[in-house]
Amino acid sequence: MLYQLTVFSFLAFGAVHATADCNAIPTSLWCSNKEIESQCGFTAQCDKHRAAVHNQKINITVLIESLCPDCQNFITKQLYPVIFKNFADYVNIELIPFGNAKVLEDGSIKCQHGEEECSINKFEGCFIDSMQDQSPLPTLACIEESLQKKVEFADAVQQCFEKLQIGGDIQRLTQSCLVSKLGADLQTKAAAATNNVWPEQHKFVPWIVVNGVSLTSLQGFQNEIPTLLCEWYSGDKPIPFCEAALKLKYKKASVRFF
Ligand SMILES: *[C@@H]1O[C@H](CO)[C@@H](O)[C@H](O)[C@H]1NC(C)=O
Repeated sequence: MLYQLTVFSFLAFGAVHATADCNAIPTSLWCSNKEIESQCGFTAQCDKHRAAVHNQKINITVLIESLCPDCQNFITKQLYPVIFKNFADYVNIELIPFGNAKVLEDGSIKCQHGEEECSINKFEGCFIDSMQDQSPLPTLACIEESLQKKVEFADAVQQCFEKLQIGGDIQRLTQSCLVSKLGADLQTKAAAATNNVWPEQHKFVPWIVVNGVSLTSLQGFQNEIPTLLCEWYSGDKPIPFCEAALKLKYKKASVRFF
């Protein structure tokens, strides 16, 4: 009876409904619903935000170095199989192979995992550059996976180039980059890009930068990037991965009732 009364009074006074304390709404939810926006006065800012991000790919920049085990794990278990394969139409993935390396006073580079890492970083920089508009990620993930399995680098490259059908033109471009000034210049550029992340410097690798923003707090979510992308992306076309995740939730929830 009491319940019915409540329902009745709710219907009778349409304006009587719960309102949240706007100051207490998590900021990531401010633009998630029109009613929140208008009640809390977020509309103007949310409209600006939407205009800036709507149908825009999200840029994910990853600072890596070629022989760091955590980087290899991230690339072979998250970045390529989960993020690239499910979100390719919604993200730009950029790899910057330099990581914790240091440019010494004489201009030479010292890498965390030694000389071999420096030469593989340089190779990766050259390969990324040579691929131009094509994503280097499938090939680099293949190479990193082989390196994890202790395959010799040269063999890994040969096998992965074959597997991913990397054409002779790209192989030649990569090779000439490696032996020319371009290879060194690309490493210098990678060093600058790594050291200039904003607003917080990288403290370890892999390190993720999203739409130009580098935050330590974000790094705890490296394995939850799909969830964040579902939350952040705004576009006319919903992301199938996110829809499927939600459908699965509904399905699981309804099982409890029947
Ligand atoms: C993403 O990267 C592209 C290419 O570098 C750039 O033009 C664009 O402005 C970036 N978007 C954001 C939101 O940072």
